[in-house]
Amino acid sequence: MNNKAGLHMNKWLSSLLATATLALLLPATALHAQGVAEIVCIQCHGNLPGKLGEPVRDWRRSIHAENAVYCNDCHGGDPKDAANAMSPARGFLGAPKEAAIPAFCGRCHVGVKKDYLQSAHGKALAKGGPTCVTCHGNHAVIKATIDLINETSCSRCHSYERAARMKQALQETEALIGTISGKIELFKGEGVDTDLLEKGLFSARNRYHTLFHDVDVARVTRESAQTRSELAKIMVSLTKLEVERTKRKIIGGVAVGGALLAALLFYLLRRTFD
Ligand code: HEC
Ligand code: HEC
Ligand code: HEC
Ligand code: HEC
Ligand code: HEC
Repeated sequence: MNNKAGLHMNKWLSSLLATATLALLLPATALHAQGVAEIVCIQCHGNLPGKLGEPVRDWRRSIHAENAVYCNDCHGGDPKDAANAMSPARGFLGAPKEAAIPAFCGRCHVGVKKDYLQSAHGKALAKGGPTCVTCHGNHAVIKATIDLINETSCSRCHSYERAARMKQALQETEALIGTISGKIELFKGEGVDTDLLEKGLFSARNRYHTLFHDVDVARVTRESAQTRSELAKIMVSLTKLEVERTKRKIIGGVAVGGALLAALLFYLLRRTFD
């Protein structure tokens, strides 16, 4: 996949150069969509009606399009040869059946697939449980947030109560992460070395965001508490920095005040002697 993505990237880049003037005028997404119009899957499907054309329109606004994950990266096939594009000999996989979706998406999202398959949802796969596309959609996949946990989506199959508890724990921790990241940005802006704090936050945040697919309420609650105690340590370091900054400001203020006073005295003295 990396090689292919690289190849597409090159194509994208050269087309970007060719349309350098346009680049200044067009928003990034429109440009991107223009740059990829040359793969045969999009050329042909883009002109097909209904269910065969829809994937192109949906995909264009997806996080996959943004990251150069093309039709053939998911479906296989040959994106350069219209006549053989969908030939199994060129690796075309077709559209996956419901039970095959987690493995289909999981080729790239390996960790998520593992968590999902172990979860109550994975165990109910093809027996009334949700697949990846039930929650994320198939072509219009966008950046995942905890807003995906909502009553409309999660009460299609069972009551919302357990989902609500998960969401609350996730939300509280997310808010704390937001506050800390804001503070770190401020210090960074002032030239303070925040590398270590950033790394701590980054790792806590990443680990935390892999929690969901287990849909294990007890684990989410437990690990939320643990993550929050890690975050609390970062918060303590930040508070120390804040205290130091205030001290520096006071000392700085005293120094400036002193200098001004000296200048004033000097001026007054000179005037007396003039
Ligand atoms: C020349 C036109 C054309 C090209 C090029 C083309 N397709 Fe298709 N595609 C079709 C048509 C027509 C159908 C519906 C009939 C069929 O399944 O053969 C289809 C069906 C599909 C399906 C649904 C198959 C299923 O199992 O239900 C997928 C997925 C798909 N195309 C993906 C791709 C991808 C990926 C590429 C590029 C590698 C591609 N197509 C290139 C015309 C095209
Ligand atoms: C992120 C992976 C992914 C990408 C990228 C992707 N698809 Fe799909 N596509 C799927 C999945 C999964 C399904 C099966 C959907 C389902 O069952 O909900 C599917 C189904 C389809 C179908 C059958 C539609 C139907 O309703 O029967 C077509 C046609 C298709 N894709 C074409 C494309 C084309 C053309 C592109 C590029 C613009 C593309 N896909 C990009 C994952 C992808
Ligand atoms: C060929 C590899 C590949 C396949 C197959 C694939 N994805 Fe992705 N996906 C990516 C890449 C690359 C990104 C962007 C980088 C990232 O966020 O990991 C991404 C991003 C995402 C995101 C956003 C992640 C975030 O950080 O918010 C979701 C959700 C997602 N994919 C779901 C799916 C689903 C659902 C399927 C199957 C229908 C699928 N992916 C199939 C490569 C793939
Ligand atoms: C029951 C709904 C649901 C199902 C099923 C589901 N997801 Fe998610 N997914 C979510 C939610 C909610 C989040 C956001 C979690 C967060 O931000 O803490 C998410 C986050 C993600 C992310 C970004 C976070 C990360 O860990 O990288 C990816 C990628 C992703 N899902 C892919 C998948 C794939 C692939 C499958 C199928 C194997 C799948 N999801 C199944 C709801 C679901
Ligand atoms: C397509 C149906 C479907 C959808 C949609 C769905 N679930 Fe589930 N969910 C199930 C099934 C089936 C089970 C297993 C039986 C049970 O515990 O109710 C389950 C179980 C659960 C459990 C209990 C897990 C355990 O180990 O006890 C939680 C929590 C959960 N789902 C959360 C969610 C959340 C959050 C969403 C929305 C993002 C969601 N579900 C959407 C079908 C679904």
